[in-house]
Amino acid sequence: MISHPSNQNLIQCGQDIPAPGLLFSLPGMQNHRTLQTDSHGLDPETLPRPIDWKTLFGNDHSVEVEIGSGKGTFLVNEALKRPEVNFLGIEWARWFYRYTADRLRRRNCDNARAIRAEAGFFLDEFVPAESVSTLHIYFPDPWPKARHHKRRLVSDAFMPKAHRILKPGGLIQIVTDHVDYWEQIERVVRASVFEVVEFTPPGDASRGEVVGSNFERKFIEEGRAFYAIAGRKRS
Ligand SMILES: C[S@@+](CC[C@H](N)C(=O)[O-])C[C@H]1O[C@@H](n2cnc3c(N)ncnc32)[C@H](O)[C@@H]1O
Repeated sequence: MISHPSNQNLIQCGQDIPAPGLLFSLPGMQNHRTLQTDSHGLDPETLPRPIDWKTLFGNDHSVEVEIGSGKGTFLVNEALKRPEVNFLGIEWARWFYRYTADRLRRRNCDNARAIRAEAGFFLDEFVPAESVSTLHIYFPDPWPKARHHKRRLVSDAFMPKAHRILKPGGLIQIVTDHVDYWEQIERVVRASVFEVVEFTPPGDASRGEVVGSNFERKFIEEGRAFYAIAGRKRS
């Protein structure tokens, strides 16, 4: 058990862990098939600013955004589990973006899209105020070296961006395995205008999981502890 002053936020894994063979299912990574992004990938060059969610998804369902969607495991599974919600995954790494967009297509996740963009810029430039119900940030890059800390996503400067796009009552949910980054995340969220509330695992997290993302499944295997926090935008 990692000792930490805020143990109520520490989620220790070890129970109900899926069998290792179930942890990594990465079809397409090894066989080099062509990734098709046309149907579920968005092009920032042609996207209206601001986005009109209703036009994009063809309905007025609530919208949840994941920043740093990686290989799209969380996005795909949540989109399948909750078809009544629209999802957007923002991912900076081109290959991960392409992989996710193709994965959404293959799984017929028509309530989800992926975009390659820097998240802070994208929120500012493309996302209308008070239009998102939940912002998911799972295992953001920790940038462990002190001289790189300024690259961390969750910072005092980031919180107003998140706050602007969320609806009143909307949630920001953050999970990390990195103790030093956790200390920054907790400080930043508690210092923000968000009300800290209990972290609720998203719909597709399996028993023993916090969110069910790719990195979580990898880190569970390594026996790491996770730290989670949620903030609610006051009405
Ligand atoms: C450690 S990975 C976690 C991926 C996924 N959330 C998971 O749990 O499996 C962090 C991801 O965030 C992406 N990322 C980091 N900074 C970003 C930014 N400013 N905007 C968009 N994506 C970002 C990285 O490219 C990387 O894919």
